[in-house]
Amino acid sequence: MTTVLAIDQGTSGTKAVVVDGDDTVLGLAELPVRPAYLPGGGVEQDPRELLDSVLDAGRRAVEQAGVPIDAVTLANQGETVLAWDPATGEPLSPAIVWQDRRSEGLCAELAGHAGRIAEVTGLVLDPYFSAPKMAWLRRNVTAEGVVTTSDSWLVHHLTGEFVTDAATASRSLVTRLDDAEWDAGLLDLFGLGGERLPRIASCDEVVGHTTAFGGNVPVAGLVVDQQAALLAQNCLTAGQAKCTFGTGAFLLANTGTSAARSTAGLAASVAWRARGETSYCLDGQVYTAASAVRWIQDLGLVRDAADLDAVAADDAEGVMFVPALAGLAAPWWRPDARAAFTGMTLSTGPRHLVLAVLQGIAAQVAGLGDLVAADLGRPLTALCVDGGLTRSRVLMQAVADLTQLPIGVYPSQHATPLGAVALARAALNPSLPLREAVPAWEPAMTYEPRWSADRAAGFRSRWENAVAGVLAREGNQ
Ligand code: G3P
Repeated sequence: MTTVLAIDQGTSGTKAVVVDGDDTVLGLAELPVRPAYLPGGGVEQDPRELLDSVLDAGRRAVEQAGVPIDAVTLANQGETVLAWDPATGEPLSPAIVWQDRRSEGLCAELAGHAGRIAEVTGLVLDPYFSAPKMAWLRRNVTAEGVVTTSDSWLVHHLTGEFVTDAATASRSLVTRLDDAEWDAGLLDLFGLGGERLPRIASCDEVVGHTTAFGGNVPVAGLVVDQQAALLAQNCLTAGQAKCTFGTGAFLLANTGTSAARSTAGLAASVAWRARGETSYCLDGQVYTAASAVRWIQDLGLVRDAADLDAVAADDAEGVMFVPALAGLAAPWWRPDARAAFTGMTLSTGPRHLVLAVLQGIAAQVAGLGDLVAADLGRPLTALCVDGGLTRSRVLMQAVADLTQLPIGVYPSQHATPLGAVALARAALNPSLPLREAVPAWEPAMTYEPRWSADRAAGFRSRWENAVAGVLAREGNQ
């Protein structure tokens, strides 16, 4: 029976969970990390704060568990990058968060190559992915050291190794989707041709050892946080989909072992490379979910995310919200888009705005569900959800109403770390089939649609009009 420390280094916080062989949680620690939101679309984190939170949360969870651990695993925010000195491990730049839009101009310069980039990588040329931000750092901050995603830096501190994993690498715009390896031509295109890049490990590999949490234990099972949740949700078969409601909301569908590209404007990337085989997924993104909730908290509309349901009005009375606080992703890919409330009158109050925010997030998720269905060639029949915002019944009901699907809530708040734990187990036990490393689960709760199909379609068409208004406004500026 292996006891694993899983660290979920996310955008808004670091969570460390120690679980035993039955996935019983023995220790848990969570530390917030607060990104800085800068004028001009910059979103930065202090790399030291990220590393300290990983070490601190990990040690607290191990101490609480009171038992030695057999392995450490890491799930990371997929596309956050920094420059650092490989000799000393010192950061040479802030961490540039996936939500950062400042490489928009760089993407515009490369627009003529977007078709080729999409064909090779499965991704859309957008500041969200790693390479534009890496290139932006090189142009604007430093030419020194190495520039990598945050996982490589954290793992270097834990083990001394220089690695990333196939899922994280596949979010870069400089790897080939078909074999999940760096592509020299694309690296040149982004001006990253001379860079020293980390080795791309499989997700079920032991990549090194660490003494950071007591003992000297393997570090294994590196993966992107969204892909980790897809695995934990048991979406191992093509067509199965989940949506994680974290800082952003990310809807991912497993597409099996052939590297299918999206024809609906979604991103295609590696779900995990394990057992010598690569599994792929399609994903659509709401860039600001908990970020949008945090924003209305900062504006004073709601005191705490736990108060959302108590504050939200029963009816938004025509107020709509487009959650484009960090631009819009699939299928629009408009980093310049700005968020908007529409339909307000003198009788609009905070309660209407709060409901509109939740309904806006749900409407965008519903749109992504349709895109996934279009790519899969069949409608989704259910959607599994996880993440902190699934605690909002109002939001989950809105997702059920607008998708017209039953929404099954994952029974643990730790889907992401549990997915990483499954990969660590697979790494430690090469004869264990991946499917058996992932525990079966039953929804803690299922939300059935209460709105009629007509009402949902009417709402969604008004919401799409609000999006069209946002895009037209930005296009004219
Ligand atoms: O693509 C960004 C994603 O990996 C970040 O996830 O959990 O920090 O919202 P999260």
